[in-house]
Amino acid sequence: HPALSVSRAALLPPPGGPGDAAGQELPVESRPFASYGSALHIALPQAPRAGQLLTLLIDYEAGEGPGVCWLSPEQTAGKQKPYMYTQGQAVLNRSFFPCFDTPSVKFTYSATVKVPEGFTAVMSATTWEKQKDNTFVFKMSQPIPSYLIALVVGDIVSADVGPRSRVWAEPCLIEAAKKEYDGVIEEFLVVGEKLFGPYVWGRYDILFMPPSFPFGGMENPCLTFVTPCLLAGDRSLVDVIIHEISHSWFGNLVTNATWGEFWLNEGFTMYAQRRISTEVYGLPYTCLEAATGRALLRQHMDATGEDHPLNKLRVVIEPGFYLFLGVNPDDTYNETPYEKGYCFVSYLAHLVGDQSKFDAFLQAYVNRFKFQSITADDTLGFFLEYFPELKEKGVDSIPGFEFDRWLNTPGWPPYLPDLSPGQQLMRPADELAELWAADGLNMEAIEAVDITGWRTYQLVYFLDQVLQKSPLPEGNVKRLSKMYPKISKAQNAELRLRWCQIVLKNNLEAEYSKVKDFLHSQGKQKYTLPLYRAMWGGSEASRALAMEIFSATAPQLHVNVQNYVKKILGLGGAE
Ligand code: BES
Ligand code: ZN
Repeated sequence: HPALSVSRAALLPPPGGPGDAAGQELPVESRPFASYGSALHIALPQAPRAGQLLTLLIDYEAGEGPGVCWLSPEQTAGKQKPYMYTQGQAVLNRSFFPCFDTPSVKFTYSATVKVPEGFTAVMSATTWEKQKDNTFVFKMSQPIPSYLIALVVGDIVSADVGPRSRVWAEPCLIEAAKKEYDGVIEEFLVVGEKLFGPYVWGRYDILFMPPSFPFGGMENPCLTFVTPCLLAGDRSLVDVIIHEISHSWFGNLVTNATWGEFWLNEGFTMYAQRRISTEVYGLPYTCLEAATGRALLRQHMDATGEDHPLNKLRVVIEPGFYLFLGVNPDDTYNETPYEKGYCFVSYLAHLVGDQSKFDAFLQAYVNRFKFQSITADDTLGFFLEYFPELKEKGVDSIPGFEFDRWLNTPGWPPYLPDLSPGQQLMRPADELAELWAADGLNMEAIEAVDITGWRTYQLVYFLDQVLQKSPLPEGNVKRLSKMYPKISKAQNAELRLRWCQIVLKNNLEAEYSKVKDFLHSQGKQKYTLPLYRAMWGGSEASRALAMEIFSATAPQLHVNVQNYVKKILGLGGAE
């Protein structure tokens, strides 16, 4: 990556053998590869023998790259000390250290990190040790792909929340962090192990990031990074934690070999997440959560067009060939690999027809491919091998549901899992949304519905229905806002996102300040981009709002998110 400067490479003598310990200096050259990185070529003195082990030493300096984020004190929760974090997925770690930055290569790592007094370093590693001079030593003893190496340095402290789990956060957030997840993490791990096999990573810790962290969660092994938006005070957003825990098997153990098959990570993880959720919270609640996921897929496909090439599970990424035209893997992050991927895995389960048999398959799958990187052909080949009677029936080529069609045809999933067990939770929300969308409001019927006891995801589902029906008849949204301060003044980020979307779709200028406050308070990509798209697609006033908010908040956003917003606003941002 251009942000990485390599100053020297050397071939070290074999361990224990003779030779200059400083190594033999080798010529280094950078060759064009893609818009998001180049190839580092190091010339060896002679061709190595097959299987020969070589030790290369590479001196380099990492600076202001997209993978390494340097935050000023004002960008932290405590506003006292600076903070740095790295984000590797998908192809950003090449700006952090030189590596084979592809998920098809796995390796162990160790790191020695010296930080200034008053700072703590943590990494995605199986062991963590503090030595003198504020030096931290890390070792990851399991092979992982490059994108899972992660580092944070900041004023952070920790608190135990379970036998193998603690939360990390800035001191001013640690109480809230502990309260949010004290005593709840272990159960998810235990259920995950029961369903998918041993948890191989030792600890499972959670690090609450500064507000500009661009994701809800990132499954760095041993140490998930999460947005501070999860601190809702009522554990209502814990599905993100269950999701990241699920990556401990799907993604971190069994890994997509290329970013073109990202759905292998995320689709299987969504399925695993909902299996754990079903065991812990029951089927109705899990179906409700899955219905909100389906709404996101609907919105995404409506926005991009169903037959957009990214709405295939298998995406074509050919950087070497089209140099500046190929798809950047980071640009393929959308709802399709998640929710269409979830539908495909659910379809496989449906073909099997028996949940416990499918659970057993998932466990065998993890066991078969653990510590490897695989393609969808490996997955589906193993599926057919594991269920020979299905293979014999030719389930891979049922017209309309061909495996090949699932992978290579864009558009709405040909099969949707049955979410009707969630009806008891969804129906009241559907009915209430109907009432609010009516021309003359039936206030008597509306007032008869008591939403005070509704779960957060019921409200989310309700708001998604209202959004879908928007713009509502003149005046309705204003009434709705007054009637439910629990929604319009919510602090919960998922509710705030939907409320802001409704405000924009209905042109409720009186509440534009809520959009502004929300976008000032956090920088998650999945919250930020939909709101800018809505503002830019709206009235002149909402376009002006977009420009105003962006010019004030751009420096706080992750550089990738900044660029995506620029593109939405026609400011010539990168891809
Ligand atoms: N691995 C992803 C986040 C990611 C994807 C980072 C692609 C960079 C590139 C993580 O596991 C994830 O999916 N997070 C979701 C959680 C949600 C689906 C529960 C998020 O951040 O919203
Ligand atoms: Zn994920």
